[in-house]
Amino acid sequence: MIRLLLVAAFTLGSISSAFAMESDVKTLKVERGLTAEGKKCIECHAQKQPGIVADWKNSRHGHVNVSCIDCHQVDKGSPMASQSCPGVKGTEVYMTMVVTPKACGRCHASEVDQFSKSGHARASVQYHAEDGRNFKGMTALIATHEGQGMDKFKNASDMTGCMQCHGADVKLGADGRPTKETWPNAGVGSTYPDGSVGNCVVCHTRHTFSIAEARKPAACASCHLGPDHPDIEIFNNSKHGHIYNSEGTTWNYTSAPDAWEPGDYRAPTCAVCHMSGIGELETTHNVSERLKWNLWATRSEVRNSPDPLSPLTGEGIEGRKKMKSVCSNCHSSLHSDNFFEQADNHIELYNEGYWDPALAMKKELAEKNLLKANPWDDEFQKIFYHLWHHEGRRMRQGAAMGGPDYAHWHGVFEVQQDFYELKAIHKKRMETGKIEE
Ligand code: HEC
Ligand code: HEC
Ligand code: HEC
Ligand code: HEC
Ligand code: HEC
Ligand code: HEC
Ligand code: HEC
Ligand code: HEC
Repeated sequence: MIRLLLVAAFTLGSISSAFAMESDVKTLKVERGLTAEGKKCIECHAQKQPGIVADWKNSRHGHVNVSCIDCHQVDKGSPMASQSCPGVKGTEVYMTMVVTPKACGRCHASEVDQFSKSGHARASVQYHAEDGRNFKGMTALIATHEGQGMDKFKNASDMTGCMQCHGADVKLGADGRPTKETWPNAGVGSTYPDGSVGNCVVCHTRHTFSIAEARKPAACASCHLGPDHPDIEIFNNSKHGHIYNSEGTTWNYTSAPDAWEPGDYRAPTCAVCHMSGIGELETTHNVSERLKWNLWATRSEVRNSPDPLSPLTGEGIEGRKKMKSVCSNCHSSLHSDNFFEQADNHIELYNEGYWDPALAMKKELAEKNLLKANPWDDEFQKIFYHLWHHEGRRMRQGAAMGGPDYAHWHGVFEVQQDFYELKAIHKKRMETGKIEE
């Protein structure tokens, strides 16, 4: 929960009277007892960027007196320190454009700690790290294939694609401002010169930082969509999405943390199942905590590692218990038990019916030198990739979240088609000893 180091010393009465006088954000006058420097930021920026100040003013932070300077100020000695804002140049105030989880953590330590143990924390490190923790295959895809090996385009697809969901290793220039290769990015797992990891604005966007926003599926949908992880599409296809889409605008999203319960909503959103407190369960910023399987990897295994860099991060059996206790607020235990048996069975079908035999064929072709060096220009390897990365994820995630169209037509049906195509190519290559043209 919230650990306040800076105490907001103002009564609600004095705050609302200060704001009641304002009709226009551009002429915002701050009457509250902020420091002189703190007031100046707001008053000047109200003219320069009224959009930012309006968001802040209407936010919880605005109401409890947490202002620009509380988040943007850093020590002079910080690796992030800069005076790039003309309003602070030459003063004693050092600031940064890039507010990291370390800054939020001064007041929200437990959220930052939970986040740092989640799969979200690895989202950028797993392909940007330069110390061997990364997947080299990803760098090759981005630079050699998508960038066609042209030096000036070697990061183009990362900057406009991957990085906007996964995050970047944010670098600052000599002036302390973030570089164009790494910022802006709206990715979840960015890393920063002050050593912090993650981006707290991806679900509750700046400068409102609202829990109501983060509780809605839209907060996850900007990243969890598309052919390879269609979680919003699966949700829309599920009975829960059906109910949310028909009446979700009338629900109450503003209850205090850990007090948002069925009755405020009739069906779970992404946040309810994966993050929010419900019944006995406490809110968590670790989205891996309630998961049993890894459903994005080539083969699904039960989670069993405390290391957020491991694909199997989490305690799978405990995770399943927690997830079931979410369901138990609205369903009978028989409903949840049977549902998860149906889902697990489909996940095992993927593992044993498709992945294992497909991998065996690939190994056999590799031994006989019957795979092209460029995997992205080889029919077998392209279909193989789609089998696990696109169709196979849809099959598994569709089953786990009750989206029948994704479990089936976009899922197992397509996996089965991929599999027969792989078998045909495998047979031909083994018989002829050649890779077809
Ligand atoms: C609760 C912490 C917090 C408060 C309070 C806050 N900011 Fe920010 N600000 C952030 C974060 C986080 C970012 C995004 C940094 C990133 O993209 O890495 C940001 C980004 C910005 C940016 C760049 C945004 C853009 O789109 O170009 C500006 C300018 C800025 N803040 C000014 C302000 C001003 C002025 C105030 C006071 C009215 C303020 N901030 C209050 C956390 C805060
Ligand atoms: C006298 C006006 C003024 C004051 C006072 C002021 N700023 Fe600024 N600030 C600006 C202007 C102008 C910019 C540049 C906007 C742009 O580049 O579009 C800026 C830029 C910024 C940026 C982005 C920095 C960058 O590298 O582009 C941040 C963050 C910021 N200010 C925060 C603050 C904070 C925090 C305070 C209070 C400690 C503050 N400002 C005080 C006028 C002011
Ligand atoms: C100086 C202390 C401080 C800092 C720094 C700070 N916050 Fe807060 N934050 C607060 C306080 C105080 C509240 C209000 C608590 C309450 O409602 O009881 C709050 C509330 C929130 C809420 C709940 C909003 C709602 O709708 O109820 C969110 C989300 C949040 N902060 C996110 C952040 C993020 C993200 C950062 C960093 C970018 C950050 N905070 C930085 C003190 C801070
Ligand atoms: C800015 C993009 C972004 C947003 C917004 C986002 N995620 Fe994620 N999420 C990711 C990425 C990228 C990964 C993959 C991280 C990895 O494994 O490297 C991920 C992974 C996950 C995982 C799997 C973690 C694991 O251990 O394998 C879950 C569950 C998840 N997200 C749930 C959510 C929920 C729920 C929300 C909304 C409340 C959400 N995400 C919002 C980008 C995002
Ligand atoms: C639209 C947002 C988005 C884009 C663009 C995107 N990803 Fe992802 N990526 C995700 C999400 C969400 C997941 C989590 C999938 C899950 O849990 O099922 C993920 C999972 C992954 C994983 C598996 C998780 C892990 O830790 O290994 C890798 C690797 C990955 N992405 C790399 C990339 C690369 C490289 C690019 C660009 C070539 C890219 N992604 C583009 C959102 C995105
Ligand atoms: C994957 C989406 C997501 C990310 C990333 C995220 N949050 Fe949240 N946050 C939420 C949701 C959802 C809630 C509302 C939980 C509930 O229902 O009470 C929330 C609530 C909060 C609250 C209110 C208190 C509480 O625990 O409910 C604070 C403070 C907060 N977040 C801070 C942060 C900070 C700091 C970070 C960065 C480390 C962060 N958040 C990153 C989704 C996110
Ligand atoms: C009814 C509860 C529920 C809702 C609502 C829900 N999920 Fe899930 N989600 C689950 C379950 C259960 C699993 C599988 C957990 C396991 O491994 O046993 C899962 C799995 C996932 C995964 C796969 C993690 C991995 O290992 O690859 C992601 C990503 C995810 N959910 C994101 C979302 C997003 C985004 C939304 C909203 C659009 C959402 N979920 C809505 C229950 C839910
Ligand atoms: C806030 C209440 C709530 C929670 C929590 C919840 N559900 Fe539901 N669920 C519903 C409602 C309401 C329906 C619609 C029932 C109907 O079709 O008449 C539903 C429908 C379903 C259905 C469609 C089959 C059916 O009986 O209609 C499945 C499957 C399902 N839920 C699984 C789950 C699982 C698994 C969880 C936990 C991971 C869960 N639900 C959590 C309220 C909830």
